[in-house]
Amino acid sequence: MGRVAIVTGGSRGIGASISRALKEAGHEVAATYGGNDEAAKAFTDETGIRTFKFDVGNYEACKSGVGEVEGALGPVEILVNNAGITRDAPFHKMTPQQWSEVLDTNLTGVFNMTHNVWDGMRERGFGRVINISSINGQKGQFGQVNYAAAKAGDIGFTKALSLEGARKGITVNVVCPGYIATDMVKAVPEKVREQIVAQIPVGRLGEPDEIARCVTFLASDDSGFITGATLTANGGQYLA
Ligand code: CAA
Repeated sequence: MGRVAIVTGGSRGIGASISRALKEAGHEVAATYGGNDEAAKAFTDETGIRTFKFDVGNYEACKSGVGEVEGALGPVEILVNNAGITRDAPFHKMTPQQWSEVLDTNLTGVFNMTHNVWDGMRERGFGRVINISSINGQKGQFGQVNYAAAKAGDIGFTKALSLEGARKGITVNVVCPGYIATDMVKAVPEKVREQIVAQIPVGRLGEPDEIARCVTFLASDDSGFITGATLTANGGQYLA
């Protein structure tokens, strides 16, 4: 059954694969993005998926952004909180700004978006919320105190909210990707990246489509008995 889906950060990286996969599964998809107009336009030209520009870290912007999507496509039934940024630095060099930017986007953004679709999902008795966390929210990572804290927060958020959605037909789950071949991972210094790949038992980075397939499954009507779950897809790098 085709439903209306929002994918935050849905025009690039893992988000772009998720947007495409949900469209292929028959859903009407809105991809949000924060700043890269050129990438968003190229994505829409290629896929036909509409993009909407707003900052997930800003509650009012999310409120009007969700309103705009609902005006264009209808009530949102699937929300994929994928938007995420890194500001890596060892803790002793990390600035308050690097902390706030990551927490605002990667954790508060999940609150802002979910809060603005939640009442509608409750009223209609159906919803799928899928949060994209990270292996580094599960195991920690040198240079990512901010990111690991936010991503671990996404896991706690998921578990708590799943209990509130359960009686209303809303499932809330979290996917923890390992290191996936995207611009974010390519930005890691090459020497460090080689060390990381050496720690992945399957011997390679993951592909964005491998995460998108996890999300499509959790977004489907068939997954109604799965809620509060953490789905790990990391090539065996960390066994949670
Ligand atoms: N473990 C232990 N020590 C480490 C280390 C590690 N993983 N990485 C660096 N160090 C040590 C260095 O050996 C060095 O030690 P000395 O001072 O004794 O020589 C010290 O820390 C400082 O290292 P750098 O000079 O490299 O410090 P820097 O400030 O230039 O950069 C860093 C540090 C930003 C953390 C850099 O190492 C880095 O980018 N690491 C990768 C972090 C990472 O994995 N990020 C994931 C991004 S992808 C993502 O987030 C997606 C996802 O969900 C998986």
